[in-house]
Amino acid sequence: MHSVVIAPSALACDFGRLHEEVRRAEAAGADWHHLDVMDGHLVDNISFGPAFCAAVAKVATKPLDVHLMIDRPDHYLPRFTKFSANVTIHVESPCDIAGTLAAIRAAGCTCGITLKPGTPFASIEPHLAEVDLVLVMTVEPGFGGQSFMPEMMEKVRAAADHRSRHGLGYRIEVDGGINTDTARISREAGADTLVAGNSAFGAPDMAAAIRSMRG
Ligand code: DX5
Ligand code: ZN
Repeated sequence: MHSVVIAPSALACDFGRLHEEVRRAEAAGADWHHLDVMDGHLVDNISFGPAFCAAVAKVATKPLDVHLMIDRPDHYLPRFTKFSANVTIHVESPCDIAGTLAAIRAAGCTCGITLKPGTPFASIEPHLAEVDLVLVMTVEPGFGGQSFMPEMMEKVRAAADHRSRHGLGYRIEVDGGINTDTARISREAGADTLVAGNSAFGAPDMAAAIRSMRG
């Protein structure tokens, strides 16, 4: 249904050479830039905020895919939408999920919904007719460099099945521990959008790594 998108996660890049890293990812074939915003509440880590994302946007020529791992995406949304192509929120965020998804679209961005490994797929089903992207976390969100959780492929298959049964068109993204092998496993389960942090920015040859994940 969708062409494969590879979205390197800037969480794994050298923050001290951010602009060079953004350009390096694009030269290596990145389709999107995945930006992991963490508030220390929804997840057990604090990463960066809108100013960091705006710095990426300053040099990026590829779309920004912003992953809000924060309690109040509704409150902070206006500070992200101006430079984002896609904004994804967690169904676990204690806010008006449907209203926030609508606000993301109203701001001119595509909207995504995501869920932690321990959250059942059923929790996002009520929202699937109103999203452009479903992000299945394949690690516990909060850190890069973790191991892929193959049992999450059940949710990828469920998302693909729901989409075809209901005639919907959202992208299916996976995020966490994605490399050449787990990218293939994820694509075979139905994912079309692959986030890669350490396997991309940590690769000796980033272009080869991205090509290998594209399949
Ligand atoms: C984790 C983030 C992921 C992570 C991916 O909370 O949402 O995007 O940065 O990093 P890797 O690919 O190294 O697991
Ligand atoms: Zn992410």
